[in-house]
Amino acid sequence: MSYRKTFKLICGLAGGSAVLVLAAAAADSRGSSGDVVGRWSSFTSVQAAQPAWTATSHTPAPSGHVWDFNWDKRDPSVLSNGKKKEKLAEDPGSGQDSSKPKATRNILLIRHSQYNLSGNSDKERTLTLLGREQADLTGQRLAALGLKYDVLIHSSMARATETANIISKHLPGVELMSCDLLREGAPIEPVPPVTHWKPDAVQYHEDGARIEAAFRRYIHRADPKQKEDSYEIIVCHANVIRYFVCRALQFPPEGWLRMGLNNGSITWLTIRPSGRVALRTLGDAGFMPPDKLTRT
Ligand SMILES: *[C@@H]1O[C@H](CO)[C@@H](O)[C@H](O)[C@H]1NC(C)=O
Ligand SMILES: *[C@@H]1O[C@H](CO)[C@@H](O)[C@H](O)[C@H]1NC(C)=O
Repeated sequence: MSYRKTFKLICGLAGGSAVLVLAAAAADSRGSSGDVVGRWSSFTSVQAAQPAWTATSHTPAPSGHVWDFNWDKRDPSVLSNGKKKEKLAEDPGSGQDSSKPKATRNILLIRHSQYNLSGNSDKERTLTLLGREQADLTGQRLAALGLKYDVLIHSSMARATETANIISKHLPGVELMSCDLLREGAPIEPVPPVTHWKPDAVQYHEDGARIEAAFRRYIHRADPKQKEDSYEIIVCHANVIRYFVCRALQFPPEGWLRMGLNNGSITWLTIRPSGRVALRTLGDAGFMPPDKLTRT
């Protein structure tokens, strides 16, 4: 990439800090060593107001946010009053061990498939023909993965229920459960805001608390009593899934609308006994032929 191109790119990305980065690059290329400290420390003081880029590496600076291991309030080393447990040196205590989670939870979040947008009520917004095909493909995929599914939970809205019923045909013996907490809604005002979608404040107020309740209900580390790793399927909605992903990864929740999910796609979260969380896939729809993908 040419110097000029790099400059344009940086301008586009970072606006005001471009000049600084450029100056830093120039200093770099001179390979000066003499009064480096003085020169760089003056950059550093200006950089402090430009958190996205550092002069030395051209890479984003760490945000400084730490990982909260007790994010689900199930960290066995933290007492219910929030205090860290004292290590009992004299009493290795068998009780301590039984309070520790041992299993990993896998949550496979499925976005419902395509539905009839002209329906006036939820009940009329049933899956399109393509939507039923998508659900069928998702069901086949989940079956082909060959995991030992424990439960298939779905939002009580018509499109999620229908998607779950079709998936369920591919997973005989897996219990189906409906849940109102998982219904679609407005989880939190998105940043940056968008013009085409503007729910009222009261909608965020109501849905936000409910979707957060759904997060707390379903996304947490395993109970200490759980012996084997589990695989749970949750069929719900794009906003709910994107919010869950932000919350589970401890990313700013207001960033949920920066992600997009195909209909019928699979988002896979893994929660370790330690409380560590990994996103295995986000909106995977690679198992669908391109002419079956929908994406608006
Ligand atoms: C979609 O819903 C509208 C309104 O209920 C209905 O008139 C139309 O026939 C439906 N289209 C399909 C393909 O089901
Ligand atoms: C999925 O289908 C719904 C309804 O048919 C539509 O509103 C949405 O945009 C679709 N999503 C994607 C990602 O195609």
